[in-house]
Parts: sequence; C-alpha cells; structure tokens
Amino acid sequence: MKTILITGGAGFIGSHVVRLFVNKYPGYKIVNLDKLTYAGNLANLIDIENKTNYEFVKGDIVDSEFIQNLFEEKKFDGVIHLAAESHVDRSISNPTEFVFTNVIGTVNLLNAAKHIWNNNFTGKKFYHISTDEVYGSLGEEGIFTEKTAYDPHSPYSASKASSDHFVRAYLDTFGLPSVISNCSNNYGSFQFPEKLVPLFINNIKNNKSLPVYGKGENIRDWLWVEDHAVAIDVIFHEGKIGETYNIGGFNEWKNIDLIRAMCRIMDRKLKRIAGESEKLITYVKDRAGHDLRYAIDATKLKNELGWEPSLQFEEGIEKTIDWYLENEKWMNNVTSGDYQKYYKQQYVKR
Ligand code: NAD
Ligand code: TYD
Repeated sequence: MKTILITGGAGFIGSHVVRLFVNKYPGYKIVNLDKLTYAGNLANLIDIENKTNYEFVKGDIVDSEFIQNLFEEKKFDGVIHLAAESHVDRSISNPTEFVFTNVIGTVNLLNAAKHIWNNNFTGKKFYHISTDEVYGSLGEEGIFTEKTAYDPHSPYSASKASSDHFVRAYLDTFGLPSVISNCSNNYGSFQFPEKLVPLFINNIKNNKSLPVYGKGENIRDWLWVEDHAVAIDVIFHEGKIGETYNIGGFNEWKNIDLIRAMCRIMDRKLKRIAGESEKLITYVKDRAGHDLRYAIDATKLKNELGWEPSLQFEEGIEKTIDWYLENEKWMNNVTSGDYQKYYKQQYVKR
C-alpha cells in the first residue's frame, strides 16, 4: 500500500483532489495535511471522511519539526503539495504570510522528503501544484507555455514562483524527484467566496453589489476544478520527473463578460426579470498591480499525457451556479464570523 501526502486537502482544489484519490485508489492511504485556515474547511470532505484509506492531520507546513516528525512517522511514498495562501488581494494586504506558507512551508516539505527518502528515490515523487500567475501578465497577444520566463507581479505570484524555483533547485542539487504543474484560474464547488466566481454568485443571490475592479477588462483563462483534479491525477502518475506541465481550458474570458454571463444565468435560475442582476455591477478601484491577461497553452499535457478538459465552460458554470444555489448551508457557514470583517476591510472603502 502506498501512502500519499496531500497538503491543503481541505481547501478548494485540494478537497477535489483528495476525493478523487480516496475514491479511485483504494490501495493508497491518503493523508490530508491541512492547517484549516479561513480557506480550509472539513465540510468540503464529509462524503469521504469515514473511508478507511483516508486520514486527516491538522498541522502547519511552516512548523518544520512537526513536518519532519510526520514524514518520519508516515514514510510517504509521494507528496502532492497544494497547501498555500492563495488569494491575490490578501497577499497585497499581508505579503509576509505568503512567504511563510508558500515559500518556507514548501521548503520544509522538500527538506522532510529529502531526509526521509535519503537518496532512495525509486518510485518517489514530489508533485508541486503551482499557478499560471508566475508567468506574469500578457498583452492582447501571446500565451504562456512551459518555457515562458517567470515574471510575477503580486506577492502571491512572487511567493509561488519562489516555491517553484526551490522545487527545481532540490531536483538539480539533491536529485529530489519532482514535477510541477501551472494551472489557470479554477472555478467550481467548494471555492471560498473571496474569489470572483463564488463571491459574485453569492452577491447576485443576495442582491449585493458586484465589485468589478477597474474597467473589468482583465482576462482570465477558466478551468473547471474537477478537470484540474483529473489533470493532477494524470501528472502524478504519468508526469516525467523534472518536467513542468501547464494546465488550462483554452477558455479566456474578459471579467466583465464573465460577470454578465453569470448575471444572465442567475436571472433565469432565480426567475428574475432579464437584466435585473446586471444592475448590481459596480466599478470599484482597481487591484494594485492587476495583471491584465492570463492565457495557458496546455498542448504539452494533451500531446504527452492525453489530458483534455471534459467540460465546456457553459456547462461548467451552470453546474457551478447550481451547486452554490443548492448548498446554501455551506455558503452560510463560510460567510459567517471572520468573513464579514474581511468583506468590510476589502470592499467598503473601495
Ligand atoms: P485554497 O485557499 O482554497 O486552499 C488552501 C488550503 O491550504 C486551505 O485548506 C488551507 O487551510 C491550507 N493551508 C494554508 N496555509 C497552510 C499551512 N501553513 N499549512 C497547512 N495548510 C495550509 O486554495 P486553492 O484555490 O484550493 O489552491 C490550491 C493550490 O492550487 C495552491 O497552491 C494554489 O496556488 C494553486 N492554484 C490555485 C488556482 C485557483 O484558481 N484557485 C489556480 C492555479 C493554482
Ligand atoms: P480572483 O478570483 O481573485 O483570481 P486571480 O486574481 O487569482 O485571477 O480574480 C479573478 C479576476 O476578477 C481578477 O482579474 C480580479 C477580478 N476581481 C474583481 O473584479 N472583483 C472582485 O471582487 C474579485 C475578488 C476579483
């Protein structure tokens, strides 16, 4: 039986990866290590929490001694590392937290894997989950490939870029077998409503204003989270050591067009008069250092490992909106308490 560590498994993408691995691989023991920050929520995993091949461990990847002991105890065969501070706006108000978790936390995991694997690397893999934001911002033309030079602009993307460099440095220096993937923006169920899609679904539902940064002309490339989880499965098993794989849906949307599309779908689902939800759109002060455009070329992943997105965006966004409308209790749970304070700090003065 293989023992696999998944970090950040109580978060948005991590919970989908944990669910997929626990259900698909009864021969693996899946250990989900998560600090349960504001973004981590065990309610994301209720359907698999009692499975015999699943274990949750609460802990902080910044705590090197704890991480070292956990690796000694569990003797992991593989690591899929998703734990991170992940929200750009929070990285603007508190950059240091991003250095601790994203950089130091990643280095702690690399050190523990290096120590426990002790040059015996056969069958071992350290898989680091990264973002397309490390490549910086595109103009109207161009697309990020695996060869695009890193050019991060936000403290979030700078911390992710730094952690990617450490993963590669540990392979080059110590032979630690690793693989990295850089994915575009994800959308789907269980995403914390500070990110655009769940925040705006929740605000439309509650007739609250929709704070569009700047002119709404920034472009993101959107991928359904469950397709990302499948790509992670494929790369974990088939990805070549030392390689980087870009993951994306070839699905670019200007923010304002995406927001208008969500408004139209919500009007229909909530039986509102056409155009009613769009009236909630409010243009607010732009995000500092706001990257204009991200676009991912995922051709390598398709050609070499055969992965492609399963869902068209139109279907994915409908499914996602349905999920948030049907899971009111989940949304109410995560938007109580500290969330209210965050919301005021982030939006009231904008
Ligand atoms: P998320 O914020 O929803 O979840 C992050 C998880 O990490 C949470 O469960 C949190 O409790 C945990 N965590 C945070 N700090 C920790 C610490 N110090 N120790 C242990 N656990 C800690 O993030 P997400 O959107 O699911 O992103 C997961 C990964 O995927 C991140 O590495 C992110 O950079 C990357 N990524 C995200 C996207 C996206 O669109 N969301 C796109 C590409 C890549
Ligand atoms: P976000 O979901 O925070 O993802 P990222 O910044 O990692 O791409 O934001 C997606 C886009 O939506 C980004 O261009 C910023 C914009 N945005 C808004 O216009 N208003 C908002 O309230 C938020 C959260 C994001």
